[in-house]
Amino acid sequence: MNWVRIRRALPEDTDAVAALDRVCFRTPWARNDFEKEFTENILASYLIAESGGRLIGYAGIWVVSDEGHITNIAVHPDWRDGGIATMLLQELLRIARGKGAARFTLEVRVSNEHALALYGKFGFRTAGYRKAYYADTGEDAAIMWLYDGEGNA
Ligand SMILES: CC(C)(COP(=O)(O)OP(=O)(O)OC[C@H]1O[C@@H](n2cnc3c(N)ncnc32)[C@H](O)[C@@H]1OP(=O)(O)O)[C@@H](O)C(=O)NCCC(=O)NCCS
Repeated sequence: MNWVRIRRALPEDTDAVAALDRVCFRTPWARNDFEKEFTENILASYLIAESGGRLIGYAGIWVVSDEGHITNIAVHPDWRDGGIATMLLQELLRIARGKGAARFTLEVRVSNEHALALYGKFGFRTAGYRKAYYADTGEDAAIMWLYDGEGNA
């Protein structure tokens, strides 16, 4: 794999991140949502992965008090299975811990085996389900949690 750099997302990354989101998700976020996340939302931290000047992944988290809510993570299909999401999530958790987060949560489609494996590797465990959470398919979301100090890395 070529050299990959992880860095903070900047407002000028908005178009590229929105384009990547359209490649990666059935129901992508609007460009405006990313713009707000990168410019206005003081609770948010976003990272991007790039290689050769090309955006190949991104991930985000909101930290409120001691809780981190992972908003999204995506890697371009050409770059999957190479540890990019693992790198992004590791760095995202490090940043969130630095802002005081000690427990982390997220929602994920119950069919998304790759994402479930990624989160499971970090110690996230399914704590419950939101029925028909995803409007596009009616699929349930698994609600996952990771608690620091419970034997997790
Ligand atoms: C989920 C996603 C972000 C993972 O990105 P990635 O860079 O390929 O992930 P990694 O290479 O770091 O792999 C993470 C773990 O997933 C598992 N995994 C890898 N490839 C897999 C596959 N094809 N199927 C299932 N699990 C797989 C492994 O446990 C791997 O860890 P390991 O290599 O240490 O064993 C990527 O598939 C993606 O962008 N999917 C579409 C968007 C999405 O669904 N995002 C999650 C929203 S909740």
